[in-house]
Amino acid sequence: MQSLLEKYDTPAPRYTSYPTVPYWESDHLTEAEWTSHVVKVFERDRHLSLYIHLPFCEKLCTYCGCNKHITTNHALESPYIQAVLAEWKMYLDRLPGRPILTELHLGGGTPTFFHPDNLRQLLEAIFATVDIAPEHEFSFEAHPSSTTELHLEVLYELGFRRISIGVQDVDEQILRVIRRYQTIEQVEFVTQTARSIGYDSVNFDLIYGLPFQNQQHIVRTMELVGNLKPDRIAFYSYAHVPWLKNGQRAFDENDLPNPVDKRALYELGKNLLETLGYYDVGMDHFSLEKDALFQSAKNGQLHRNFMGYTPVFTPLSIGLGTSAIGDTFSAFAQNLKTVAEYQNAVAAGQLPLLRGHILTAEDLNIRQHILNLMCRYHTNWQPGDQRDVILARLAEPILDGLVEIGPSGVRVTELGKGFLRNICMAFDARYWAKVPSGRVFSKAV
Ligand SMILES: C[S@@+](CC[C@H](N)C(=O)[O-])C[C@H]1O[C@@H](n2cnc3c(N)ncnc32)[C@H](O)[C@@H]1O
Ligand code: SF4
Repeated sequence: MQSLLEKYDTPAPRYTSYPTVPYWESDHLTEAEWTSHVVKVFERDRHLSLYIHLPFCEKLCTYCGCNKHITTNHALESPYIQAVLAEWKMYLDRLPGRPILTELHLGGGTPTFFHPDNLRQLLEAIFATVDIAPEHEFSFEAHPSSTTELHLEVLYELGFRRISIGVQDVDEQILRVIRRYQTIEQVEFVTQTARSIGYDSVNFDLIYGLPFQNQQHIVRTMELVGNLKPDRIAFYSYAHVPWLKNGQRAFDENDLPNPVDKRALYELGKNLLETLGYYDVGMDHFSLEKDALFQSAKNGQLHRNFMGYTPVFTPLSIGLGTSAIGDTFSAFAQNLKTVAEYQNAVAAGQLPLLRGHILTAEDLNIRQHILNLMCRYHTNWQPGDQRDVILARLAEPILDGLVEIGPSGVRVTELGKGFLRNICMAFDARYWAKVPSGRVFSKAV
């Protein structure tokens, strides 16, 4: 195992999209072109999923890989909400009909930085312009130190039934190193209050591979999981990308567990979760049997997008707010990243696009293969696949027992599940056509 970990601990995309963002051909994507892809999918059945990025955080957690704006100035909330509503209006003006909202996710940054009244104002304004699908999934990311009972009540009243709590680790020393100011009591409070209000799915975000993290820390974190029994767990591999995220320069690479120790943290966590009754779903996610995530994996319906794994797939997804990504399956578009750039573009009446990509027929085929591997652990050959090239890239994973090749396609073995990112890379034609010369992706293990 040690040699496998060393061999496959190479930089690899996390494949929340294909093509991966560094390979997008943004020159080909104009505002008109993006809109035409959105409208084409919308015309099929008016269903859409909305992602709203709420970027503000009061304090910087040094490990953070997300797009955020650190501030304690809450006067920024209102102008930001007005910009999000103005961006939404631009989409409404272009859509030929009233949308049916199936999915809504508030991500960040810290959505609970916003006062509940402001969240209500934002959401009620959006709800006034859409029909809400009878079966809908509304969820939000809750920071344990800023989520109040009022947040939970207001969002429940507005239809939210899923909450994702950023736990990461429970040890005080680790939390101090990553400068994350929260307590176990706050995690307990948010979990228990959400349950008593009626939320039916609670997710914990956990991370392995943080600086100074050892097996004892994982045991303690899983003890909390055992006590509170969240319905889902995202157990993320710490992505160390200090060339992209300045905050991560606060700690030395020597403080991070080496690849073998890091994988041991994952294996320990996985075993403890399985003992607690969780099933692994896709890559780095776990779910109780009754939760929709496990059920969708069992039925082959699991989907993966920029937020990770989801039990529902809505072909049209619109992203609002800084850095938010929209996805029509045939095209991606990402918004400008800073609050000032974003608000200025919206004020000028432009869709605040930073970059995007229109998928070619080959991209679409590869995207489906990667989704199949990430969500169902197997994929079937399709006409037009460069089978010989893919098989040549899979030569070592085959020898190492990570994948099995059958007449109809490629199957990931139990051992291979721990190396999904490496296996998907064999299909990633754009990566191999132009292997990055500098540091772009975090390491696979
Ligand atoms: C967009 S963040 C927002 C959550 C919210 N701001 C909070 O901190 O509670 C979502 C999740 O991404 C994960 N995350 C952030 N930075 C990461 C990194 N460098 N490596 C792995 N996971 C990371 C964390 O688990 C975090 O809860
Ligand atoms: S982890 Fe969450 S709270 Fe911390 S800086 Fe990142 S987005 Fe903000």
